Amino acid sequence: MYLDQDSALHINQLTAFRRDLHRYPELKYQESRTADKIAAFLEALGITPVRGLGQTGLVASIHGQGRSAENPGPAIGLRADMDALPLQEVNRFEHASQNEGRMHACGHDGHTAMLLGAAQLLASERQFDGTVHLIFQPAEEGGAGAKAMMDEGLFERFPCQAVFALHNWPSLPQGQMGVRVGPIMASGMMFELVVRGKGGHAAMPHTTIDPIHVACAIVGQLQTLVSRGTDPLDSAVLTIGKIEAGTSANIIPDEARILGTCRTLTKATQQFLIEGIERIAGHIAQAHGATAELIINSTGYPSTVNHRQEALLMGEVMREMVGEANAHTDVLPAMTAEDFGFMLEEVPGAYGWIGNGAAGQPGIALHNPAYDFNDANLSLGARFWDRLARRWLLEQARPLSTPSMSLP
Ligand code: NI
Repeated sequence: MYLDQDSALHINQLTAFRRDLHRYPELKYQESRTADKIAAFLEALGITPVRGLGQTGLVASIHGQGRSAENPGPAIGLRADMDALPLQEVNRFEHASQNEGRMHACGHDGHTAMLLGAAQLLASERQFDGTVHLIFQPAEEGGAGAKAMMDEGLFERFPCQAVFALHNWPSLPQGQMGVRVGPIMASGMMFELVVRGKGGHAAMPHTTIDPIHVACAIVGQLQTLVSRGTDPLDSAVLTIGKIEAGTSANIIPDEARILGTCRTLTKATQQFLIEGIERIAGHIAQAHGATAELIINSTGYPSTVNHRQEALLMGEVMREMVGEANAHTDVLPAMTAEDFGFMLEEVPGAYGWIGNGAAGQPGIALHNPAYDFNDANLSLGARFWDRLARRWLLEQARPLSTPSMSLP
């Protein structure tokens, strides 16, 4: 199969590309310079990407020998995200952000560069039967860019029988990788409770219905939903992050607002929490003569649930790339959210982690102002993508072969 991987992968070019993106980060749906750079990189490889899906998204199709857009054969999608965060970088190195208050603090610059490395490898050696769609999505950070591309026909225009994504993971040292079958990231629902009472003078509480007192009672009781109501082995988080009420110490206000978020690994648990919040808040408010209205601001991203066969394949390729001891194929899920979950609701696939520490140590956390992507991952990530795509395509060509997977 593949003989000359090292000469096809141009690490210096990828490193310079990654650092350029880091220097000029762009926020969700504003990734136009980033998209121009990606398109130019691909065009130099002889690949013309389709642009403008989900505003700034791109899809680059690499066809194996004898395949074409009209006759793609089996097709696999590999996804990278392109957007940065509204954060002021504190790093002082040469490629630190030049855009005030914007930073690639989640490593999406690195994800993009790893996928372009895969493009170098796949385009230079096309002895595979089928098509690889490289998907560069906008707005992973709160903008549901994956869904925006899907709403504009991503999988109708570029049908994929499987999709995969990688995220760098600072709590794993560089050189280690992780994946699991089933949920790997949580859903993220945002809600608001409006508690309505009756305002008045702080010195005459008997003439009022104090919504602040009611809100405090509700917040305390909401914490029983996870601790007493959900299966301890089915992780869930309920956090109240903001309370708003009142204007002055001597006034009891008319209403109080409670803002929170729920993170769950299954839809059923999310539904249980929504019903529980409404029930507990409603009854506590009623007990005090107040009312409580639940407003779901967003059901957010769905949980990212890896499909079994694809997660097993991902784990097997991880073992081939970094060895048995460094491939963690049964990691615990994270309660963060990721919009790749939308793609996994429509197409089978898996989402995995690539360690981002340095010298065997965990790295600086994602979304931290001192974070940076570890460039040692450009080679590992690109070669991982190349190998995964070729392995998946090979398995489509031999549907009756015995699977050699052996994960739990
Ligand atoms: Ni991210």
